[in-house]
Amino acid sequence: MNQSNPIPIIGILGGGQLGRMFIQNAIRYDATVFILDPEANAPCAQLASRFVQGDFNDFQTVLDFGRSVGILTVEIEHVNASAVLQLESEGIRVYPQSHVLSLIQHKGKQKDFYAMHNIPTSPYVFVENRAEISDLDESWFPCFQKLFTSGYDGKGVKRLNSKADIEEAFDSPSLLEKLVDIKMEIAVMVSGHADKSFKAFPAVDMVFHPEANLVEFLSAPSELPVHVTSQAEEMAIDIAQKLGIQGLLAIEFFLDINNQLIVNEMAPRPHNSGHHTIEGNVVSQFDQHFRSIVGWAPGETSTVKPAVMLNVLGEPGYSGDVKYVGLEEISAMPGVSVHLYGKKTTKPYRKMGHITVTAESTAEAMKIAHKVRDVIKVIA
Ligand SMILES: Nc1ncnc2c1ncn2[C@@H]1O[C@H](COP(=O)(O)OP(=O)(O)OP(=O)(O)O)[C@@H](O)[C@H]1O
Ligand SMILES: [Mg+2]
Repeated sequence: MNQSNPIPIIGILGGGQLGRMFIQNAIRYDATVFILDPEANAPCAQLASRFVQGDFNDFQTVLDFGRSVGILTVEIEHVNASAVLQLESEGIRVYPQSHVLSLIQHKGKQKDFYAMHNIPTSPYVFVENRAEISDLDESWFPCFQKLFTSGYDGKGVKRLNSKADIEEAFDSPSLLEKLVDIKMEIAVMVSGHADKSFKAFPAVDMVFHPEANLVEFLSAPSELPVHVTSQAEEMAIDIAQKLGIQGLLAIEFFLDINNQLIVNEMAPRPHNSGHHTIEGNVVSQFDQHFRSIVGWAPGETSTVKPAVMLNVLGEPGYSGDVKYVGLEEISAMPGVSVHLYGKKTTKPYRKMGHITVTAESTAEAMKIAHKVRDVIKVIA
């Protein structure tokens, strides 16, 4: 126990980069953070006050770990929710709460939640297996198939253009949702607090790679008209309120070609689309999550400087002990902040770090971010 500090010990299920950046912020308050992660050299292993190697999906492991802390939180939603529920009943303060975790960790329950509350989302249907997809009406296609559980970074998601694509479909419990004609994808980070207040960060634009189907840059604040961004921010607050979440919540939206905002999905924790807040906003997403889970009021979220964030990904063709090329050169560029996650090994497209560029305008930041992308390389 950290006797000199009134903040209870904080435990995190998961010890990846989100936990690492949470710790980097939490030590400013001299808080004590314990980590549970299966990987001996997880990004948090060297930073945690106590690092427990273990499986956050295992009931007993989570129970034992949770009983050693005063406040429990997550950096990944795929954790043992029954253990979290049990810990709550024993008086451990758990944020996000178990009811939020079990809803969000299941993409089908998420969709039902949107439907029940009249939150715009694309039409969907549940299937148990591939055979049930062949029974569907052709009008469902083109669609996106999404595994109910354990998908991340697009890994549990498949686009099916027609029934002819059935061989490529997942043969597992999942949902099919109609293709949205997307004009833009944006995200809003929002947080719920003990005093029942909710606060959103300004919306951000996700800029997709022209060929590869992945987010290449995040640009903040969003350059969409204010009536669209404020609607997204209001919707985010409304969703957080309806969930009754205490903690941080990331919400991904589609803006369709008719300028309608449609909720894609949400995550109850700090998120890749909030990394720019470390340099770009008055408080960062990690600080807001900290304030929220310790029971404090929200901090000021407004933009200090326009920012562009790019993920530092493992170069295709390289696997093994990581080597970074070009760090010194990019660090000399104006407004560049480097964040490496401390992962020992690289593999193609693995998230190894991110870089934020702040500037007088997002256009200026974007120019420098392109230069950064061309210089930094992650090889083995
Ligand atoms: N209904 C849809 N219509 C059009 N595009 C979609 C649809 N659903 C998903 N996509 C595309 O696929 C991407 C990944 O989908 P989604 O966000 O649901 O998966 P994910 O595995 O959680 O991804 P990540 O972890 O990268 O956020 C979306 O960002 C979007 O570009
Ligand atoms: Mg997503």
